[in-house]
Amino acid sequence: MKIKIDNKEIDVRANQTILNVASEAGIHIPALCHKEGIEPYSSCMVCVVKDKKTNNFIPSCTAMIQDGMDIDASGEEVVYLRKKAVELLLIEHRAECEAPCRIVCPAGYNIPLMNRLLQAGKTEEAIELAVKEISTPRIVCSDCPGYCENACRRKKIDEPVSIRNIMLFVYSNIRRENESDPDNSQDASMQEENLTKKVTNHVRKRFSSRIGKLEQVEQKEWLKECLEDSTRIREITGFTVAGNEASNCMHCDCRAANDCRLRDVAVELNVKDPSGKLVNAPILKKISRSADLIFENAKCIKCGLCVRACEDNKDQPSLCFINRGFISIISEPLTEEFENIQKKKADIYIDVCPTGALTRFS
Ligand code: SF4
Ligand code: SF4
Ligand code: SF4
Ligand code: FES
Repeated sequence: MKIKIDNKEIDVRANQTILNVASEAGIHIPALCHKEGIEPYSSCMVCVVKDKKTNNFIPSCTAMIQDGMDIDASGEEVVYLRKKAVELLLIEHRAECEAPCRIVCPAGYNIPLMNRLLQAGKTEEAIELAVKEISTPRIVCSDCPGYCENACRRKKIDEPVSIRNIMLFVYSNIRRENESDPDNSQDASMQEENLTKKVTNHVRKRFSSRIGKLEQVEQKEWLKECLEDSTRIREITGFTVAGNEASNCMHCDCRAANDCRLRDVAVELNVKDPSGKLVNAPILKKISRSADLIFENAKCIKCGLCVRACEDNKDQPSLCFINRGFISIISEPLTEEFENIQKKKADIYIDVCPTGALTRFS
């Protein structure tokens, strides 16, 4: 059999989808609800292509090839429809790729990640993160009035997380051999200026979705990730104190910010987050500490990959859809607890989820 994709003639084997053939031929077609090895389902329509012989637009992840097909996989109409498909997903997507504290940080330090590491007692990893991010001998926080704390979402509930002092404390634990070398400090300030520009631009340039208004009724959900009844501490004197204060962070960022297919497709197609949301997906968080899994409903695009990935496995609680239409939602079975999801399954869910809806909690 022979087909054409974007005017390229390809010899093909029968029983393949257009997406498979294109990918084997090195032709890129974006896909969100599709993952190799999991039964295709066609819910997102991001992989749409045009059959030039019938003038039909078809999802390439499920459409099977036919001899003599002539496929347009990158024309104007196809790109237009892909953009519309992504916009439709974003119209109810209610989440932020980057947290407000990180967006305003002149150095773009990954504050929520630092808070997660400290909260989980991962001291070595927290120091490693600081070493990686603070690649000059001076931390930007020492000259910063604390823009991060001013932007901290926790401030809307009580008081901001003591981000600046946490960062200064962690930094004070990094040994720098060339710190006192005056020749180095000249270079360092230039390096630092460059780093500030580079990191901040990196964070700001990429696509970012938004939460919108922080509704009062949703506070309970936001606080689910925080330690209950914790005392607020401004002076950070040790890693335990840092961890306690960090556990007040609500993790407004997205844990999948650097590994999200929705974000990548939005960047690829130059789609902006729609300013008016058609439906505000409820902020709903479910946590299984034993499986180290968190589900965040507002980031879910209802692609069903998580459901399909484990549907044959009925012996342990698996994720499923409940409700219908706009209010349909991924859930544990109604007779089970989210906490009881197995670690093995959690790893599969995290691997298949194309967004930050199912991620590692810690
Ligand atoms: S799921 Fe993707 S697009 Fe949504 S907030 Fe996370 S990184 Fe951004
Ligand atoms: S609550 Fe945490 S993630 Fe949100 S803005 Fe404050 S420090 Fe950043
Ligand atoms: S949780 Fe992830 S994999 Fe499951 S339906 Fe939502 S976006 Fe898809
Ligand atoms: S990847 Fe084909 S419809 Fe979603």
